[in-house]
Amino acid sequence: MRSDVTLQPLDRARLRDLLHAAVEDADPLEVMPPVPGPGAWTPQRRSAFLRFHESRSLSAHPVEATFVIVVSGRVVGAARLCPLEDREGTVEAGVWIGRSHRGVGVGATVLELLLDQARARGCEGVYVSTTPANSAVRALMTGLGVDLVPDGDELVGCVRLTADA
Ligand SMILES: CC(C)(COP(=O)(O)OP(=O)(O)OC[C@H]1O[C@@H](n2cnc3c(N)ncnc32)[C@H](O)[C@@H]1OP(=O)(O)O)[C@@H](O)C(=O)NCCC(=O)NCCS
Repeated sequence: MRSDVTLQPLDRARLRDLLHAAVEDADPLEVMPPVPGPGAWTPQRRSAFLRFHESRSLSAHPVEATFVIVVSGRVVGAARLCPLEDREGTVEAGVWIGRSHRGVGVGATVLELLLDQARARGCEGVYVSTTPANSAVRALMTGLGVDLVPDGDELVGCVRLTADA
């Protein structure tokens, strides 16, 4: 675990920092749902990014919990836990990290911290969905002993949380 990596709850001030990290260091499709129009960080796409998090995590009735990933005091990405309607006690995890911070152990630490957050919320499982090409997520799941299985075009799996896990 890297000791310089923390998760902080998303708020409006951190959302501005998160947008900055996304625009500087990530592709839109890595960090938000597709938006019609050119693929770059257009003003419309930046607004959509803010609306996406405001509606899902900062509204009066949030549908998911979002954290900013902070490395040595700097926001570098986001991690989310979204309850699954059809699986009580299970949350879906979502993570993105800026390109310049990938491949150096931030993701592995974030995953541990995210599992701690899920455990603290009383969840029994954390669902993960990725693409076969995503070697980093596959390695992270292998490290946890979780088998990913094909589901359509994706690979899916569930990290089981127990009191002593
Ligand atoms: C997926 C992601 C969160 C992983 O975070 P990361 O900080 O890059 O991962 P780490 O450096 O902690 O590495 C985790 C494992 O993946 C492996 N790995 C990392 N990058 C890799 C790459 N490009 N190819 C192959 N393996 C890779 C590491 O070797 C490590 O494996 P190990 O534990 O067996 O040594 C990050 O790459 C990312 O944000 N990618 C873009 C968005 C995304 O794909 N999100 C997930 C959607 S499901």
